[in-house]
Amino acid sequence: MIDFDARFNGYVEMINSAAVKYLGKDTFAGRESSGLTAMLDAMAYSLHNGGKRIRPMLALEFCRVCGGNPEKALPFALALEMIHTYSLIHDDLPCMDDDDMRRGKPSSHKVFGEANALLAGDGLLTLAFETALSAPDMSAAQKSAAGLELAKAAGCAGMIAGQVMDLGNENKQVSLDEVKNTDRLKTGELIMAAASVGCIAADADEEKIRAARSYCADIGLAFQIVDDILDVTSSTEILGKPVGSDGENNKSTYVSLLGLKESKALANKLTERAKEALSVFGDEKEFLIMLADRLADRNN
Ligand code: IPE
Ligand code: IPE
Ligand code: MG
Ligand code: MG
Ligand code: MG
Repeated sequence: MIDFDARFNGYVEMINSAAVKYLGKDTFAGRESSGLTAMLDAMAYSLHNGGKRIRPMLALEFCRVCGGNPEKALPFALALEMIHTYSLIHDDLPCMDDDDMRRGKPSSHKVFGEANALLAGDGLLTLAFETALSAPDMSAAQKSAAGLELAKAAGCAGMIAGQVMDLGNENKQVSLDEVKNTDRLKTGELIMAAASVGCIAADADEEKIRAARSYCADIGLAFQIVDDILDVTSSTEILGKPVGSDGENNKSTYVSLLGLKESKALANKLTERAKEALSVFGDEKEFLIMLADRLADRNN
């Protein structure tokens, strides 16, 4: 059996080191200004502040299971985390979910003010593409294919559309299908992009890309369902973000529509189906199987 924790922690270490490197002064040599210094502080505050690093980890692991060296996919993996981090900064703003804590610390806008939080998010989004497109070990064709996947997933027909729908779902009764579509977009798309960029970096064939995306579609939806469950059942200390936020904002979630027990059962069912999609990866699938289970059973 593989040592799950060793590989998991190894990936986190890789991602955190890359974050320090790509957000470091060297990246901006010759482009310094006082505005840059202030912005880098705000961007670093959120990016270096923990987080489970699930999206970049999936990109690295899918590159590996498809026969590639995970290092090759690292800039794209980090780009996913930058985009995710920007989405959290904006998600916490008073005009969105209005949450004052993130990853165990005051939210960006509480520390830097709303305007700088907005700009730190913008900075991370654009730096994500600068980082990805500078990937030293990927070909121009790979970078262009992976970059397109990233842009589509994060963009106005992907994560942004999901966030728009999520806000539109507040204070009204919506159907289960509408919640599912919202979650697939706001959370699922970026997780599916992790599969795509990892596979593309390893020149995986269509069958593998389809399998990887199918796994990520299901763990992605399960991930948001568990997030909604934890918003009700966990504590701020364990989550590092406010609990009860969805209720306060009158959000429509799986939990508000189905209740806790059925939501948990659905997350488990999606997790099982996700694991079945991995057969094409043979013996290499073990980490991804265990990761799906860990995410379904997580407490933060
Ligand atoms: C939180 O994502 C937002 C959702 C899409 C549910 P994560 O639970 O991955 O947050 P971090 O990165 O670990 O802080
Ligand atoms: C956020 O969903 C999804 C994003 C794209 C940021 P949530 O609003 O449920 O995430 P948390 O609970 O604030 O982390
Ligand atoms: Mg939200
Ligand atoms: Mg939120
Ligand atoms: Mg939530």
